[in-house]
Amino acid sequence: MLSIKISLPLWKIGLRNGLGAWAWPLVLRNLLVVVLVGWAGANAQAEVPLESLQVLHWWNSTSEHSAIDVLAVSLAEENVAWQEQLIPSGSGVGAIIVLKSRVLAGDAPDVAQLNGPLIGEWADLGLLLDLDKVAESGKWDKLLLPKIATWIRPRGHVVVAPLGIHRVNTLFYNRKIFAQYGLQPPQTWDEFERVAAKLHQLGIPALAQSSEAWQVATLFETLVLAEGGPNYFRDLFVKKEPSAYSDPRFGRALKRLRNLKQWMTTPNQELTWNEVTRQFADGAAAMMVMGDWAKGEMNAWGMATDSSFGCVATPGTADYHLFDIDTLAMFATKNSHRSAQLKLAQVTMSPAVQASYNQIKGSIPVLRNPDLSKMDSCARLSWNVFSRGSSAQVPSFAHRMATDETSRDAIIGEVYRYFMDDQITIQDTQRRLVSVARILTKIGMENNAQDTHR
Ligand code: GAL
Repeated sequence: MLSIKISLPLWKIGLRNGLGAWAWPLVLRNLLVVVLVGWAGANAQAEVPLESLQVLHWWNSTSEHSAIDVLAVSLAEENVAWQEQLIPSGSGVGAIIVLKSRVLAGDAPDVAQLNGPLIGEWADLGLLLDLDKVAESGKWDKLLLPKIATWIRPRGHVVVAPLGIHRVNTLFYNRKIFAQYGLQPPQTWDEFERVAAKLHQLGIPALAQSSEAWQVATLFETLVLAEGGPNYFRDLFVKKEPSAYSDPRFGRALKRLRNLKQWMTTPNQELTWNEVTRQFADGAAAMMVMGDWAKGEMNAWGMATDSSFGCVATPGTADYHLFDIDTLAMFATKNSHRSAQLKLAQVTMSPAVQASYNQIKGSIPVLRNPDLSKMDSCARLSWNVFSRGSSAQVPSFAHRMATDETSRDAIIGEVYRYFMDDQITIQDTQRRLVSVARILTKIGMENNAQDTHR
């Protein structure tokens, strides 16, 4: 007999967020399959095992739901239902906490959005399903960009399925405002200051910004990259060298962060990233620093790239791609779900899914030869820089690519305090972070967890 689990998500898929016209035939076809299978099953008195997978993730915006729909519909074609385990939280702050508690309680979901070094740590504990066979039969090595092929294989085995690559160092600008006042998108932070001052005279705030800690960290890491370049960035956030935190370059990035507050719409208000994007989209501010998931969201709201808004690299970072790779991990806890898990891994690498999913999500495909005709100017820029290889690729600290969760939280905590409280000095913040880094590197060395190839 049919399980209610399979039919509900299929209806949800179609009705939830105005699924694109391309997907309806698939949904209807799958419903037909479900009905026919159910009818045949009932008549033959035989149970037809329709599988379903619990997928824990944090994607809750309009574009994110639509991107998931692409995966869910393709998975349904394989006769596997996608069961939502949504923990809404920008950058996954809450989702990772819930995921950890569930894993510790022995109640891991079948699949989870799991990014960065956590992948290697959990693979070491034997929690993740080995995807070597799927990767081998799908020739992933030949299809994937070299960086991704290494990334998904932290200890020599493929343990996650790759979805897409976001560019975090993206500066969005309002094309109408810029054209109306003859402004050019700033290429350096000094140029940014000049543009911001001019906008201020016109009564237009320069920067849409929320005080959510991860959003402050997202802006801050782009300042650090502009100030010190990729090697210094790695010293700070991958190697966590204590001396890097007392360096004048770190002090200058902190100073810039505080100075930028004067140009911000809501520096003390905790808005979700899609609320901030809405402010920017409504013209409440002329620019916004945000990963290119914001592009996907504005597209989903009917704003086409290059007509309402444009995107360039954040000032001083045009040569770099501050990357954030989204991946799905399969938990090796339930044998009975193995084949469904492997099907999902396969689905993520289908060229059609890669193209549609990433177009909606705002990211770029993980493939060596993606369909460039499906990319807008933003995606093409991201693709051009990322495909230059390791000299251009920098792992995002705010989005878990650079270091472990504990280090990330400890460092973001200090930067956030400094951002929120103007009484805290740059020197104090640097001193505190030197101590934090000393403790973190000591812990890292003891656990032999320092993994600095990123
Ligand atoms: C990132 C994630 C993106 C998007 C963003 C905003 O960490 O990789 O896919 O979800 O957070 O929540």
